Amino acid sequence: APPVRGSVELRGVRFGYADGPDVLRGLDLVVPAGQTHAVVGSTGAGKSSLLRLVLRFSDPREGQVLLDGTDVRELGWDALRGAIGYVSQDVFLFHGTVRDNLAYGRVDATDEQVQEAARQAEAHAFITALPQGYDTVVGERGQTLSGGQRQRIALARAILRDPALLVLDEATSAVDTETEAAIQRSLAAVTASRTALVVAHRLSTVRDADRIWVLADGRVAEAGSHDELVEAGGIYAGLWAV
Ligand code: CTP
Repeated sequence: APPVRGSVELRGVRFGYADGPDVLRGLDLVVPAGQTHAVVGSTGAGKSSLLRLVLRFSDPREGQVLLDGTDVRELGWDALRGAIGYVSQDVFLFHGTVRDNLAYGRVDATDEQVQEAARQAEAHAFITALPQGYDTVVGERGQTLSGGQRQRIALARAILRDPALLVLDEATSAVDTETEAAIQRSLAAVTASRTALVVAHRLSTVRDADRIWVLADGRVAEAGSHDELVEAGGIYAGLWAV
């Protein structure tokens, strides 16, 4: 098997929007290849802004964002888009069949590959239960899917594209226990053989992370494993009231 890639490093990153104040202030963070790291913090702490920089939707005012050791500003767009799978909070489903939505970005995928990705992402069962299965039309004016189902479609999409790095902005919407468990298994499948940086809103996600970065006021306030951070009794412990 080829070596796992997708390592991310932020070095002394300062960032703000337009003429606004700094939102991130001297941020240092490393996600080694193959690991899954979670970013947590209260609203406005700068979590989404951090993801924007990794995806290069924005560039820092100061400092560097590196992907596998190369400044993302020096990577071509094709290389960057090919290396990163992005699952946003708002999963984008277009008006088309479930199959076409899954194969988005991988139009060459066979039905077997599409279904295997859906199985891994814990999406196959609910898809086959839809009126037309994989041929069910979703998206605008199509069959409506729940937030948890959409997230699993997006994870299956990411599996099909096989990116080195998965960048996930976890949905905040509340789901039932069964869906939560399905999403967790789906996430475990996607992150098993790649690098992942997840803005986490679920305790189950952060518990499984190799390392958790706690942002506060645009800086890394705490970092460590779940147990370490609970033991420390700081911001993290307060976020989950554990
Ligand atoms: N901000 C801004 N312009 C934007 C987006 C964000 O000025 N287009 C500001 C926000 O007002 C906030 C700061 O940037 O003060 C950090 O925002 P964000 O990175 O979105 O914080 P999160 O930690 O992601 O907050 P949330 O959990 O609410 O998504």
